[in-house]
Amino acid sequence: MTLCASLVTLALAAASYANPVSRANTGYVQASGQGFTLNGEPYTVFGSNSYWVGLTELDTTDMDTTFANIAATGGTTVRTWGFNDVTTASGDYYQLWDGSTATINYGATGLENFDNVVAAAAKYNIRLIVTLTNNWDNYGGMDVYVDQILGEGQPHDYFYTNSEVIAAYQNYVKAFVSRYLTEPTIFGWELANEPRCTGSTNATSGTCTTTTITEWIKTMSAYIKSIDTNHLVGLGDEGWFNDANSTDYAYDGSQGIDFNANLAVDTIDFGTFHVYPFTWGEDTDPIEFGTEWIENHRDSQATYNKPVLMEEFGVFVDQNQTETYENWYSTVIDGGLAGVLIWQAGSNLTNGATPDDGFAIYPNTTIYYMEQDYSAQLKARNDA
Ligand SMILES: *[C@@H]1O[C@H](CO)[C@@H](O)[C@H](O)[C@H]1NC(C)=O
Ligand SMILES: *[C@@H]1O[C@H](CO)[C@@H](O)[C@H](O)[C@H]1NC(C)=O
Ligand SMILES: *[C@@H]1O[C@H](CO)[C@@H](O)[C@H](O)[C@H]1NC(C)=O
Ligand SMILES: *[C@@H]1O[C@H](CO)[C@@H](O)[C@H](O)[C@H]1NC(C)=O
Ligand SMILES: *[C@@H]1O[C@H](CO)[C@@H](O)[C@H](O)[C@H]1NC(C)=O
Repeated sequence: MTLCASLVTLALAAASYANPVSRANTGYVQASGQGFTLNGEPYTVFGSNSYWVGLTELDTTDMDTTFANIAATGGTTVRTWGFNDVTTASGDYYQLWDGSTATINYGATGLENFDNVVAAAAKYNIRLIVTLTNNWDNYGGMDVYVDQILGEGQPHDYFYTNSEVIAAYQNYVKAFVSRYLTEPTIFGWELANEPRCTGSTNATSGTCTTTTITEWIKTMSAYIKSIDTNHLVGLGDEGWFNDANSTDYAYDGSQGIDFNANLAVDTIDFGTFHVYPFTWGEDTDPIEFGTEWIENHRDSQATYNKPVLMEEFGVFVDQNQTETYENWYSTVIDGGLAGVLIWQAGSNLTNGATPDDGFAIYPNTTIYYMEQDYSAQLKARNDA
């Protein structure tokens, strides 16, 4: 066994050395048709979200526990926040603002902390989808850029159009992305969590449309590709469609997102969508709303021949959670959607339980066991 293994290792090393430009041998996850590959084999995207792993002052032991718990569900991929914009230094943060000037935090509470997140994920063979800002006002986000550069209360959507704001965001993205250019633990970058024309406040310019955000996506995704050709780039959106004839806000373009137009952008490698029927007011038949939402995004995946991820979903325990999740996981797997990440991971760490917004899945609970079952099914589908 040992001899065979080392011969194989030598053969692989020789092969990749002889063919250094072969992207299949780089060790980076690739998008390929409607799926993902790693070193030429199917790569299954199954896992969870842990926005908090790099934001709650965890030591490396707790980071290990976090990823160990997710790996034990069969998880391969975790989505996390690569941002926290503050105006007063406190806790873990990545950028400190003073007036219109932002300073990147490269230190132990900043990017060095994120280095620890990456190292812990790598130990458990988990790859990270890293989201680089937020539509909402948790952990800073778009409104901090707008408020600091243009003045408090200026329209949220100036984030997408103002050249100074775009330059400031690019400066941040460059610092973050450049640090991990050759790090295979990074699955990919996301431009923002749930970008929309409106944010946490109701100030908008009144001129933001799906075209506004699509243009920004073109600019920002091309910018990341100009720095980093190793990693995938996605959006991080909820997946709203833009059908002028629809009277349903999830489908009518009113949120500023045109899922299909955005998936068509050359420098976007994969699509993303979320599912929250209750918080979205789509609760007449929540299971069916989600099933159709998954199928419609799966159809876009086929049309544009790019993988699409259901990268967040949640209903509460008392909202028929078990039946809903079984239904949706099955729809993902049977329908051919590329992959799925649940919102959100939970762990019991040194200082107690990790944050719970009502959706957290702690180890050895019903849904945790369900994840083990469906991760195996998704891998079996992809490897068949
Ligand atoms: C925001 O919404 C509140 C409550 O609906 C309203 O009173 C206020 O005028 C709105 N502000 C703007 C700028 O639209
Ligand atoms: C909207 O409906 C009209 C009338 O049925 C149809 O002609 C048109 O193609 C539809 N537009 C879209 C974008 O589906
Ligand atoms: C829960 O889901 C199951 C399966 O779809 C359905 O038959 C049942 O009516 C749902 N129960 C409630 C309370 O919504
Ligand atoms: C983990 O934390 C959750 C949420 O507080 C709790 O319900 C659960 O019992 C804890 N599990 C263990 C093993 O401590
Ligand atoms: C979950 O259960 C397994 C199997 O019984 C056990 O080995 C593991 O320690 C448990 N995990 C946690 C976090 O309690």
